[in-house]
Amino acid sequence: MSLQGAAGTEELIFYVNGRKILEKNADPEQMLLSYLRKRLRLTGTKYGCGGGGCGACTVMISTYEPASKKIRHYSANACLLPICSLYGAAVTTVEGVGSTKTRVHPVQERLAKCHGSQCGFCTPGMVMSIYTLLRNHPEPTSEQMIAALAGNLCRCTGYRPILDACKTFCKESVCCQRKANGKCSLDQEDDLFDKEEKVSTRLFSTDEFQPLDPTQELIFPPELMRMAENQPKRTLFFHGERMTWISPVSLDELLDLKAAHPKAPLVVGNTSVGPEMKFRGVFHPIVIAPARIPDLNVVKHMDDGLTLGAACSLSLVKDILTNAISEYPEEKTKVFCAVSQQLRTLGGEQIRNVASLGGNIISRKSTSDLNPILAASNCMLNLVSRGGRRQIPLSDIFADGVGNNTITPEEILVSVYIPHSRKGEYVSAFRQAPRRENALPITNAGMRVLFEEGTDLIKDLSIFYGGAVATTICAKQTCWTLIGRHWNDQMLDEACRLILKEIALPGSASGEKVDYKKTLVVSFFYRFFLEVLQSLRTMDPCRYPGIPMEYRSVLQDFKTKIPQSIQIYQDIKPSQSPQDPVGRPIMHQSGIKHATGEAVYIDDLPSVDGELFLAVVTSSRAHAKIVSIDTSEALKGPGVFDIITAHDVPATNEFYYSDGPEIIFARNKVICVGQIVCAVVADSDIHAKQAAAKVKIEYEVLEPVILTIEEAIKHNSFFEPKRKLEHGNVDQAFETVDNIIEGEIRIGGQEHFYMETQSVLAVPIGEDKEMDVYVSTQHPAIIQEMVAASLGVPANRIMCHVKRVGGAFGGKLLKAGLLASVAAVAANKTSRAVRLILSRGDDMLITGGRHPFIGKYKVGFMNDGRIRAVDAKYYINGGCTPDDSVLVAEVSLLKMDNAYKIPNLRCWAYACKTNLPSNTAFRGFGFPQSALVTETWITGVADKTGLSPEKIREINMYKENEQTHFKQKLDPQNLIRCWNECMEKSAYYSRKKAVNEFNQQNYWKKKGIAIVPMKFPFGLGTRYLSQAAALVHIYTDGSVLLTHGGIEMGQGIHTKMIQVASRELNIPMSCIHFCETSTTTVPNACASAGSAGTDVNGMAVKDACQTLLKRLQPIINKNPKGTWNDWIKEAFEQSVSLSATGYFRGYNENMDWEKGEGQPFTYFLYGAACSEVEINCLTGDHKNLRTDIVMDIGYSINPAVDIGQIEGAFVQGIGLYTMEELKYSPEGVLYTRGPDQYKIPAVCDIPEQFSVSLLSSSQNPYAIYASKGIGEAGLFLGSSVFFALRDAVTSVRNERGLKKTFALNSPLTAEQIRASCADDFTEMVIRRCFPPVTCTLALSPHSGTPCYAQYSLGEK
Ligand SMILES: Cc1cc2nc3c(=O)[nH]c(=O)nc-3n(C[C@H](O)[C@H](O)[C@H](O)COP(=O)(O)OP(=O)(O)OC[C@H]3O[C@@H](n4cnc5c(N)ncnc54)[C@H](O)[C@@H]3O)c2cc1C
Ligand code: FES
Ligand code: FES
Repeated sequence: MSLQGAAGTEELIFYVNGRKILEKNADPEQMLLSYLRKRLRLTGTKYGCGGGGCGACTVMISTYEPASKKIRHYSANACLLPICSLYGAAVTTVEGVGSTKTRVHPVQERLAKCHGSQCGFCTPGMVMSIYTLLRNHPEPTSEQMIAALAGNLCRCTGYRPILDACKTFCKESVCCQRKANGKCSLDQEDDLFDKEEKVSTRLFSTDEFQPLDPTQELIFPPELMRMAENQPKRTLFFHGERMTWISPVSLDELLDLKAAHPKAPLVVGNTSVGPEMKFRGVFHPIVIAPARIPDLNVVKHMDDGLTLGAACSLSLVKDILTNAISEYPEEKTKVFCAVSQQLRTLGGEQIRNVASLGGNIISRKSTSDLNPILAASNCMLNLVSRGGRRQIPLSDIFADGVGNNTITPEEILVSVYIPHSRKGEYVSAFRQAPRRENALPITNAGMRVLFEEGTDLIKDLSIFYGGAVATTICAKQTCWTLIGRHWNDQMLDEACRLILKEIALPGSASGEKVDYKKTLVVSFFYRFFLEVLQSLRTMDPCRYPGIPMEYRSVLQDFKTKIPQSIQIYQDIKPSQSPQDPVGRPIMHQSGIKHATGEAVYIDDLPSVDGELFLAVVTSSRAHAKIVSIDTSEALKGPGVFDIITAHDVPATNEFYYSDGPEIIFARNKVICVGQIVCAVVADSDIHAKQAAAKVKIEYEVLEPVILTIEEAIKHNSFFEPKRKLEHGNVDQAFETVDNIIEGEIRIGGQEHFYMETQSVLAVPIGEDKEMDVYVSTQHPAIIQEMVAASLGVPANRIMCHVKRVGGAFGGKLLKAGLLASVAAVAANKTSRAVRLILSRGDDMLITGGRHPFIGKYKVGFMNDGRIRAVDAKYYINGGCTPDDSVLVAEVSLLKMDNAYKIPNLRCWAYACKTNLPSNTAFRGFGFPQSALVTETWITGVADKTGLSPEKIREINMYKENEQTHFKQKLDPQNLIRCWNECMEKSAYYSRKKAVNEFNQQNYWKKKGIAIVPMKFPFGLGTRYLSQAAALVHIYTDGSVLLTHGGIEMGQGIHTKMIQVASRELNIPMSCIHFCETSTTTVPNACASAGSAGTDVNGMAVKDACQTLLKRLQPIINKNPKGTWNDWIKEAFEQSVSLSATGYFRGYNENMDWEKGEGQPFTYFLYGAACSEVEINCLTGDHKNLRTDIVMDIGYSINPAVDIGQIEGAFVQGIGLYTMEELKYSPEGVLYTRGPDQYKIPAVCDIPEQFSVSLLSSSQNPYAIYASKGIGEAGLFLGSSVFFALRDAVTSVRNERGLKKTFALNSPLTAEQIRASCADDFTEMVIRRCFPPVTCTLALSPHSGTPCYAQYSLGEK
């Protein structure tokens, strides 16, 4: 069959939310996500990455199988789902689950009421994952629940409240099972009476929840059932603008099609072809979709194995294997178990539900988790072509590398045969990834050994690795050599050497992690060796004693469990009016709208007539002269309207806020990869992007290209001013101290990874040069200012509107201003509305993030642990423009003391000017880096003195009546209280003992525990930056419209402001509405940044409300029994103004950098966190076991929101310090441009036990209702995990007699942990010494029992 004769295009029939969709012009290039959002205007389903990695676009797909008469419901990522694949399917989106207009579904209700949404951008995806699970399992287990959420990322909440909502659907009890005191922590409330204050542990009440009633769900459309049962299946053709989709129904047809179009890919899940087309520019004019062909969906159980169709989804494969494992004798299912183990962590459920077995195998990606284990297990491929059928071992397709042509282009993989394991056969699979779940592996392996019957003589051995080189690779020589050998230490010794020799990884120049991968390659084999030894023991315990007790724990992989958590906060006083919401855990004002998908973000705004889409063209050079820009090809593209360059900017293209310009469009030269050079506007997003790719820019490279801090130092390339703080007499102090340590720590940058990418809609009004600018920003005033300056119009013509922001974390300040200016200049030139929504890749490339940091330190201290002197230098990588870099450097100096009094201190901070994209504000603003340096030398002092880190911390912690290094007084009482409470609540000392015991009993797994204090100064350094205003209108029906200058970006500011207004006006929250933040209602508002939003806007709202109440007071006095509505009516009739502004002048803060003195902060927040972790020394993997946080945040206005901020920031801190790694090419090109390469914490990363307590009886006289600004502080507490990992590594090194001092950088990834836990495996790799390694047998270090393969460990 060919395309001839198939000219007509099919009508695509599917259902969305119970509504029939007939699409006459289905375009095979169109994914369901854009179809839902743009065509059907169902904007609840969100774009977060476009590549299947974030889950924001999750929908439920339902299909009907006539043969079994079964309906299958599964979650899928709409961003990778071609609409053509949906013929006959029913799609349910968040809008179909429930809405405020109809019925809010229990999933939506509980997510909102359990405070599971902050910015709300991930929430619809979360709802859909949970909803789909409940459709299949109305009473799921907690394992099912946690698995269902593995593919959904949230950057705000830290997942705990989401999981709390989930738990309410699970059948198991929600008890924390933490019975240290014999009681469940959830039952502790009664015991939690402070001396004076009652505390509460309930942030929501389950009594309010509607029950889940599965009978209320949308049914599968009967028409689709009839279609599936009655309509004869026929080949479907869909012709798009550039691509044709053919979906045959028989193998015969498929063979014809493949013979006619050998280059056309077979698309099943589109999880491999889709990302290639989207991100790597691959284009296929024809694709063939074979999913409906029965032969490709077979499931056949045979005497010796199982045959599975190539189109079977990975989820189906997992289910089939799980069933088989429970039905067949254990001996037969070892292959099944190993494959199913890999499937457990492969992608998220959304990926596994659509990705096919055949697709995974045939893509032959080096990162395939299935190929190594399937190849090692002798699986066979059943191939068919017009030339005939054949069966080949799967391993053959890797026989000679990537370009292997064992399978011809015409050949189709019909099915895969997976054999039963045999007696005496052992099979295992391993993987190590940057994140335990939903992350492609760094390296994986499949291994199988068959012994001569009743012996440990190797009859057959098979070892395959993935991730190591460009495709799956076999250690063939090694396996042949070892046949006939006993499974003992000599064999292990030789095997490791042979494997390292045979698996030749490319040198470090061509890729990173080479040493780590090599270490994993041998470590995996060692793990297999131990596993098999242990299994041999079960066969014959007399002959095979198994492995020592200390080694056994390493055979258990870390599993993700639904965390148990407790949140403790001070309850409101019994005397507080029931209507007064202050201090209560009120749900986020938009919570239900987040969960129903009704909350509107920029790209959800309906299109404006004639609207154009903008795509940016960015520099591919780090430092170069622009020789020419050729736009001719781009302008010829379909739908292209215009190209915008610096020449089109009517006025300001460069903004001077500090030492150097912030630039809208590069004019003559580029200063980083990712700088915007020009932009294409076209009639659609796709056309704009296609044309942008055709703009040709010629460069002439300029020297020097400075990328790193070291290079900046070498070239003396800094932003001015450099800052220094000096206190006491440092040089003299160094002369009197007992000890001095010197060191350095590097802290990598961090991507904001707000879930909503930078977004702007600029709409010219058409008169008086007015323009409405809708933008996702934390700072509307700066958007207004920059847009007005770029267009050369007064600010009063630019109206900036922000309803809500899908996460910001500091990343939507200046950068958003530049992007808004790009869109506004385009809108101005074209006189059309222009929409600019950055793709995730562009966003990561262009907008910078947290500053990479190097801290060099010299610390002088006494033998008793007292620190006397610190001399330090901090360098931050500011990137190519100043942005806030100098300010970040200043803050890093001001906050460097963390919780400690350092009597003599000198520190310099330098903001390096480099050719990386400009870095910017990020939650914590320099504090997370500088405090990590401090805590690092604290542990260094501990190492040197032999005292514990917590002792050093206690000895040096601020005491009463002390001053900071810039002479600001502070009262550390609450710091000490937090520390002591955290010690107590975490049972630190008894757990430390338990950790030590565990470490003595376990060799390859170790635990670590650490407790870290925190002082987080609050302030913006100067008064005018903390001024705020509010505007409150009361309408004659009594309803109140509130606005203020703060931005809602997930931190619940509008909820809190409504709480404030409700208290002040003494009316219920339901009477008060917040619509949007706008420059038209509150002018010149300061940025919502620096944790200050609630403090300052709260004061302004209070002021406005008090003004109104003052005006109303005479009326109220006259009619005290009247209602609010009576008073308002009367006020109107008496011509009393019902609108008032409120104002807060800001905090009186100052800093004199010349003198090094000042009061830059108004108050201090305090906290402490204790974390416990467990590491796997063989892989470097770790598990966060438990975290206890105690925070002093004053009197919380809304404990649910504040605890959410602490937890979310803490988990972001875990990301910063342990996993998030930005990678650049040597030329300065960012590699990590999406969730597939850049790993933020997922559900699997949060501590198994997670408790947060707010310090009770804490009052703050400086902020609204005695509260404290909490947005940023919690992030640093993530460092407790870093130091717990350090503790675990220390324990390994002590046991192995390794050097006591060692340096760990941030992020402390699995790679670094593995390298620090040096052993003979790492040694083999580093010394590249394959023959001469001496792997010696020794006795087990603790038990005295014979120990297999206890490698000799020399002094490193
Ligand atoms: C976010 C994300 C996370 C992922 N995580 C992991 C992971 O952790 N581990 C892992 O191993 N993989 C992972 N993957 C990869 C995923 O498993 C594979 O992309 C998937 O299995 C491919 O199947 P598919 O049906 O989607 O392939 P498609 O994209 O539809 O097709 C893939 C290729 O296989 C060919 N092909 C498909 N079927 C046949 C057939 N029957 N005969 C001949 N050729 C055929 C096609 O021609 C095409 O070239 C991930 C992918 C994504 C997007
Ligand atoms: S947008 Fe689809 S997974 Fe991220
Ligand atoms: S609430 Fe999850 S990303 Fe913001």
